[in-house]
Amino acid sequence: MKARETLARWGYTELLSPLLESSALFARSIGETSDIVEKEIYTFEDKGGRSLSLRPEGTASAARAFIQNRLDQKGLFRLFYMGPMFRAERPQAGRFRQFHQVGAEFFGNGSALADVEVILLAGETLSAMGVEGARLLLNSLGCRTCRPSYIQAVTKYLHESKGRLCEDCRRRIEKNPLRALDCKVDGPGFKGPGVAEFWCAECRLHFEEVLEFVKKESSLQMEVSSSLVRGLDYYTRTIFEIVPSGMHIIATRSTTALCAGGRYDHLLEDLGGPPMPAVGFAVGIERVLEVSRGNGPSSPPAPSVFVALMGKEAARTGFALSRRLHESGMVCVLGDFEKSLKSQLRRASDMKARLAVMIGEEELKEGRVTIRNMENHHQESIPQKEAAAHIVKIQEANRNG
Ligand code: HAM
Repeated sequence: MKARETLARWGYTELLSPLLESSALFARSIGETSDIVEKEIYTFEDKGGRSLSLRPEGTASAARAFIQNRLDQKGLFRLFYMGPMFRAERPQAGRFRQFHQVGAEFFGNGSALADVEVILLAGETLSAMGVEGARLLLNSLGCRTCRPSYIQAVTKYLHESKGRLCEDCRRRIEKNPLRALDCKVDGPGFKGPGVAEFWCAECRLHFEEVLEFVKKESSLQMEVSSSLVRGLDYYTRTIFEIVPSGMHIIATRSTTALCAGGRYDHLLEDLGGPPMPAVGFAVGIERVLEVSRGNGPSSPPAPSVFVALMGKEAARTGFALSRRLHESGMVCVLGDFEKSLKSQLRRASDMKARLAVMIGEEELKEGRVTIRNMENHHQESIPQKEAAAHIVKIQEANRNG
């Protein structure tokens, strides 16, 4: 997958984390009063009476793994993951109970440049997955110093407009007032105070630096969205979502964001780890497939070499040859040795292979293989032992010529 190559190029190491974690991990990180923990998490007791949950996202698990394995001491601050996540949501377009994310987390760097790195990386990951022309929505939620006064102002506003709120938002007033900003029932109806008025000087400077760099360095269209909030409680300061281009209506954002992320400077400490800032993102793979269907590969890559095999003995020679070609970085596909030569060559031609190698009874007897140029049908017989080197030479000549 090209996303994996992109993440590795930026110095991120793949983390394989379990699908099941202790339920307490998600309550402590995502938040007891978040929709995910309140309504969407799949939780059960195992035979030992332990409460376990299927992971609804990857950040909490990555933070747990980072702390538990002291990855800071190994210098592993940049991690990425790919895999299934589970949320008991009402299935609809773009919203599934099992879906897949590719996500990245950058631990230990609190500067605005780390936010910029993660946002640029999110954009590159999406373009590696075939997404073109996406739109970046950005906001800052402030920090633990300035956010309380914002929450107070939103709570006051919600109390005053209680009559117009949906049932969920009325409950949220006491428990999680900021969630009312992107209420899925009332739509973009929030006319309350904007967060920017409440930022402390450090948060303002941090956000301005993020915007300055993103504007210069990112190819994404950018929009500051003061009503952007997130459904997970661990965020501080920068939050962002990437939506398909043309989509900037906040009302429908919840089912169309291709990617979302932000900074979470207290999560590691809250989970018993070192006091260390962090920032990350996750892309929803199904949503990307939905929008990039037109750009993505619709057929497998054309192999450089197709090996047509007549019989089991030929298959052994074919395996050895393909291994050598794979080692030199070539795409080499084996034919079905139970099919006729004619049908295997038809397959090679359908796959648009450049060369076909034929290994039949006669070739085996003579210790040779026949190599056919699929374009001009020119054939040559080469000793088995020299076949791999000869094919690599042809490939290089084609590349240079
Ligand atoms: P999230 O917004 O909950 O954030 O999910 C990230 C992305 O996963 C969404 O933008 C969407 O593309 C996809 N997604 C979420 N729920 C579903 C669903 N039910 N069906 C299909 N796709 C879905 C997080 O998960 C955070 N952990 C992101 C993060 C990483 N923040 C910091 N680091």
